[in-house]
Amino acid sequence: MDGSDVKKAGKCPVMHGGMTQTGGSVTSWWPNALNLDILHQQDSKTNPLGKDFNYREELKKLDVEALKNDLRALMTDSQDWWPADWGSYVGTMARMTWHAAGTYRISDGRGGAGTGNQRFAPLNSWPDNANTDKPRRLLWPIKKKYGNRVSWADLIALAGTIAYEVAGLKTFGFAFGREDIWHPEKDIYWGEEKEWLAPSDNRYGDVADAKTLANPLAAVQMGLIYVNPEGVNGKPDPLKTAAMMRETFARMAMNDEETVALTAGGHTIGKAHGNGDAGNLSPAPEGGSLEDQGLGWMNRKGRGIGRDQVVSGIEGAWTTQPTRWDNGFFEMLFRHDWELRKSPAGAWQYEPVSIADADKPADVEDAAIRHNPMMTDADMALKVDPAYRAISERFLNDFDAFSDAFARAWFKLTHRDLGPKSRYFGPDVPAEELIWQDPVPAGRVGYDVGAVKAKIAESGLSTADLVSTAWDSARTFRGSDKRGGSNGARIRLAPQKDWAGNEPARLAKVLTVLEPIAAATGASVADVIVLAGNVGVEQAAKAAGFDVTVPFVPGRGDATAAQTDADSFAPLEPLADGFRNWQKEAYAVTGEEMLLDRAQLLGLTAAEMTVLLGGMRVLGTNHGGTKHGVFTDRVGALTSDFFANLTDMRYSWVPTANGLYEIRDRKTGAVKWTATRVDLVFGSNSVLRAYAEVYAQDDNARKFVDDFVAAWAKVMNADRADAA
Ligand code: HEM
Repeated sequence: MDGSDVKKAGKCPVMHGGMTQTGGSVTSWWPNALNLDILHQQDSKTNPLGKDFNYREELKKLDVEALKNDLRALMTDSQDWWPADWGSYVGTMARMTWHAAGTYRISDGRGGAGTGNQRFAPLNSWPDNANTDKPRRLLWPIKKKYGNRVSWADLIALAGTIAYEVAGLKTFGFAFGREDIWHPEKDIYWGEEKEWLAPSDNRYGDVADAKTLANPLAAVQMGLIYVNPEGVNGKPDPLKTAAMMRETFARMAMNDEETVALTAGGHTIGKAHGNGDAGNLSPAPEGGSLEDQGLGWMNRKGRGIGRDQVVSGIEGAWTTQPTRWDNGFFEMLFRHDWELRKSPAGAWQYEPVSIADADKPADVEDAAIRHNPMMTDADMALKVDPAYRAISERFLNDFDAFSDAFARAWFKLTHRDLGPKSRYFGPDVPAEELIWQDPVPAGRVGYDVGAVKAKIAESGLSTADLVSTAWDSARTFRGSDKRGGSNGARIRLAPQKDWAGNEPARLAKVLTVLEPIAAATGASVADVIVLAGNVGVEQAAKAAGFDVTVPFVPGRGDATAAQTDADSFAPLEPLADGFRNWQKEAYAVTGEEMLLDRAQLLGLTAAEMTVLLGGMRVLGTNHGGTKHGVFTDRVGALTSDFFANLTDMRYSWVPTANGLYEIRDRKTGAVKWTATRVDLVFGSNSVLRAYAEVYAQDDNARKFVDDFVAAWAKVMNADRADAA
């Protein structure tokens, strides 16, 4: 059969019975059904390296110096299939790394360079990521050579760092430790637009007010990593662009100084590409044909390489020596007046009103030819916005300050979602402690765990108090950027101690009991809080007739207020917690969607989420002590009553006026219990119901307790890279 027969054969169900296309899904008939894919992505079966693969162990075998030397050599090893601009790949490598890291947003910790997600859609094919496939392909021989000892995620982050080093920057350091994912991330919400580069208006309440950008987004348009280089909605106006940059970079956790340093430092090397017609380019990798082999944006009609590349459509370099780390960006920006012009591809850009030939950058292929430099609207913002300008002028006059600010900001950019320092690996890890790393001092391990547990058990605190406090301390963990969690006991510090979700008055009462236990035994408060939860779970299991010991790993430390950047903890505040049947206020999204979001950030599978929630209900851990979903007459015993009663056809489920539900006895009509949406979704969603049935089964009472304990311990230890 030749290729032309494919269509005909595709009509035949025998030939093609599997559902293999991305466009359709078996559940797309019911678009409002809860989609559990973001939890199913936690399943490790798609990882070809197997469940015993340990990246940290592999890293120990990595010859870091040899890898760095290979990368240094790669920077100037121009390949005929994709010739390097001026014989150097530093620009394209740095942009690839920046685009990998620059998707990070502090609100949910998602995005960023931590997973190697740039290999997959949508990021591998975003309009703004045009040609980032080329540096990745250039890196492939190195990835192939070092194999499992270096992940794609680490290699992508390192390549840009080495690019800056080769250009001449004294970098701030580098840490390995990013583990690869093996399929597109399903959890990241990039915006609701259905069209690439749709106008910004869709995602701003008022496009004139940058702060109205919809949460948790950071980019101004679908398919961009940050702001539109030609201006808001493509209309040049550097002041307006500055406002959007400020908001977008703040959402990436960058302040004004970091924003100026990063943008100027970014554009100190490399160039923009717009010398041709973007209409001649082949599709982005994900939409390409088989023979494209995942390489996108190739010019099939013309030359399309070297000086004829088209990426953003903007054309030209920013500095006279675009392969060198120097102060050329600010010198160029401030020593010339700039006027708006159009690039050969028709994009808006600024070019100098007049410039000496010697100050012009050379052609990428022929050093004898000189071209005008250019600035984007975002570059001009660094000169026009008063706050940015003050920083830019300081950097213009103090190259060392600029270099240091850039090196630090670049390190932060590329390490923001790697998590605490205990996850860092390699010889170039900087010794300096940085506040954005959420530092936690090492805790003690040699104390008598049994004695601590005995004191907790005698303390008079209820099971609900013990379990709720431990849960609240651990639930802030986000697998997305590895921030939060119980380590550090930041629950006793501002801002966390005052969060509504933590029930401040109850929390203060519990801490008054637990802190003296820590002081008396030598355990950290963080460890005592977790042990308190474990004691509560063990007591509850015993009340249900099961003897269990919850696994415990000592060694958590207690952070101080000085080690805590209170502002940067604000995004970790839970606005809802389905596990404790609570939400701060009414939101546009449903409670069950917020439950899924939190479960995903905690790294839970759908089954783990199910068993945890059902268990916590019967332990009476609801926020404020509400009774919704407490489907048991034995509160405080770790029974599977929640599931047994939820699936029992003796009851009917009736909505009430206030968004709640009553569970009524079908025969008598008597109201037996009340529930929220978050409770009832475990009976209404077919997949969650399947899990609920497993735990309701008569033969699974023990399994329920064991699975609950395992999921509980997983959450308590989710942030313990230090103990791995
Ligand atoms: C407001 C922020 C920014 C905007 C609007 C922006 C825009 C652009 C545009 C339009 C290009 C040209 C792409 C092409 O046509 O090939 C470019 C290239 C580049 N950008 Fe940025 N950028 C920004 C921030 C940054 C940052 C923070 C970095 C790194 C820290 C960076 C690093 C680079 C590099 C190295 C290149 C050159 C790529 C090459 O030589 O192929 N940019 N940027």
